[in-house]
Amino acid sequence: LVERTLRPQYLAQYIGQDKIKEQLDIFIKAAKLREESLDHVLLFGPPGLGKTTMAFVIANELGVNIKQTSGPAIEKAGDLVAILNELEAGDVLFIDEIHRLPMAVEEVLYSAMEDFYIDIMIGGGDASRSVHLELPPFTLIGATTRAGMLSNPLRARFGINAHMAYYDIDDLTEIVTRTADIFDVEITGDGAHEIARRSRGTPRIANRLLKRVRDFAQIKGTGLVDDEVTQKALLMLDVDASGLDYVDQKIIKTMIEMYRGGPVGLGTLAVNISEERETLEDMYEPYLIQSGFLIRTRQGRCATAKAYAHFGYEYTGE
Ligand code: ADE
Repeated sequence: LVERTLRPQYLAQYIGQDKIKEQLDIFIKAAKLREESLDHVLLFGPPGLGKTTMAFVIANELGVNIKQTSGPAIEKAGDLVAILNELEAGDVLFIDEIHRLPMAVEEVLYSAMEDFYIDIMIGGGDASRSVHLELPPFTLIGATTRAGMLSNPLRARFGINAHMAYYDIDDLTEIVTRTADIFDVEITGDGAHEIARRSRGTPRIANRLLKRVRDFAQIKGTGLVDDEVTQKALLMLDVDASGLDYVDQKIIKTMIEMYRGGPVGLGTLAVNISEERETLEDMYEPYLIQSGFLIRTRQGRCATAKAYAHFGYEYTGE
């Protein structure tokens, strides 16, 4: 019996990100050949592109254990020390949202990453002393939505940098088809393509839309996911023809209707659409920029002529 889990287990099963896969394949094979730990890896890119999946694939390809945590979960240096202390030689430590590590924790990481040791202070006051702890060689995999938010000393300690890009429609179609197969959903090529086209370059969104379209197909149709049922389901879900969801649409419409297309500051925009500034910046803005609906200028964000045309407004800019 072949286990059919949604997350791919090996590089060969991982769809898309070809450049990253090609590089990692070489670095992983070389590390294994030399019986060394893989150099530390920094994965960066917008949410939902498969950074966590990639971390697990790397550990699997290396044939080592992986321990998973996140920046906000490690509050004190001691929390990190406890995790590091449990690592075995060659293991992967995966820290998601690594840009949110507290500074005091980050500083412990420097020597751990560079020379596999930590110096920890034990006790307090006059009785406090420093204890030197040797660590086994390990691989830190850090994931972040914004490489720019990492401190320079931390960023400099990653030997491998992988920038995850939005997926093209062919790769997303393949991912949707694979997921449908695992979920036993009957889907046509056109249906998979339509979901892919409207998934904002993001596998997590593609898989989520597939589940909702499947629900719709089962209740309102025959269960078959084709392009017609997909279009009806996505209309109900407020996902428009370009795959922009309700929040994307609200961002652009607010810019056009209230700020004459901009420039408008991100904070102002966030208040107007009742979203966190960070959510706007990490989850929504990158795709709107990539797809040409929004540009960043020194003065603020501006809606483009393409955005005006998409929503049926008359473009008044230059
Ligand atoms: N499911 C989600 N992302 C995937 C990817 N990149 N490859 C294969 N399956 C996936």
